[in-house]
Amino acid sequence: MAITLYPVKPDFMAEIGDVDLSVPLSDEDRAAIKAAFFKYSVLVFPDQELTSAQHIAFAEVFGPMEQNINTYADEVKKYRIDTRIADVSNLGDENEILAVNSRKRMSGLANRLWHTDSIFRRLPALTSLLYGRSIAPVGGRTEFADMRAAYDALLSATKSKIEKMIVEHSIFHSRAKLGFTDFTERERASLPPAKQVLVRTIPETGRRNLYLASHAMRVSGMSDEESEKLFKELTDHATQPQFVLSHRWRVNDLVMWDNRCTMHRGTDFDDWRWKRDVQRATVSDIGNTVELYAPSALTSLP
Ligand code: OGA
Ligand code: MN
Repeated sequence: MAITLYPVKPDFMAEIGDVDLSVPLSDEDRAAIKAAFFKYSVLVFPDQELTSAQHIAFAEVFGPMEQNINTYADEVKKYRIDTRIADVSNLGDENEILAVNSRKRMSGLANRLWHTDSIFRRLPALTSLLYGRSIAPVGGRTEFADMRAAYDALLSATKSKIEKMIVEHSIFHSRAKLGFTDFTERERASLPPAKQVLVRTIPETGRRNLYLASHAMRVSGMSDEESEKLFKELTDHATQPQFVLSHRWRVNDLVMWDNRCTMHRGTDFDDWRWKRDVQRATVSDIGNTVELYAPSALTSLP
């Protein structure tokens, strides 16, 4: 039986049924899922029972996984889950709820700011596949912003102004916004800032979009103050209700999104009370966006 697909909006977010992601996909299902991924940018697969190996095997349908990172690396003694998967839970090594001042908890709180995954790495992420093993009964949603629709709705003067901009991103910039600056030199050195274009075109659809996140530190060649003002304007624009959808989790949902043309954020929940065990497999993009789409900027910019 072929997959069934229910769009949430005509071209943003779809639920996919009649597919079991724990076994290798037929050629037909793989093609249908890829086509849906490019069209809708966010896919929700309910009722999936997956081991970590099966979660990874499905992720690898989209390309090679990125190497996992931990901003709070110097604290980690032992990993709770497969090290190829990012632990986005509020749980410690023994599956206990994290203490309030735990560095892992502090770092995870930055997921509540609008962002796209790994834009702060030279090689950013193509897609993230987040799997919910336990879910808070209330709160803890994930919201998605459609950066293609947001780009389309910009004034043409804004489009021309930002067309060629290059942005420097750092994971420590988003952490600092929450007052979390307590990183070792070793941790900082392991994640140096990265440059990405601000406007990109998705090759599979030809659609243009904003490529932005709370990791955005400055526009190359612009002052920090001016840059911050522009990022705020663009983020406020892109996260207006007409561009945003919210996902209410159920246990065993697998939700995947196109990091190239969406932003997402987790919403608040009582993380001292409920266990929320969500785990992320992340697939790399094909290259750095400046190297791919604006190579001349590499030599002409500061
Ligand atoms: C992520 C993320 C948000 C959430 O896994 O990359 O930002 O709702 N998650 O857990
Ligand atoms: Mn994220």
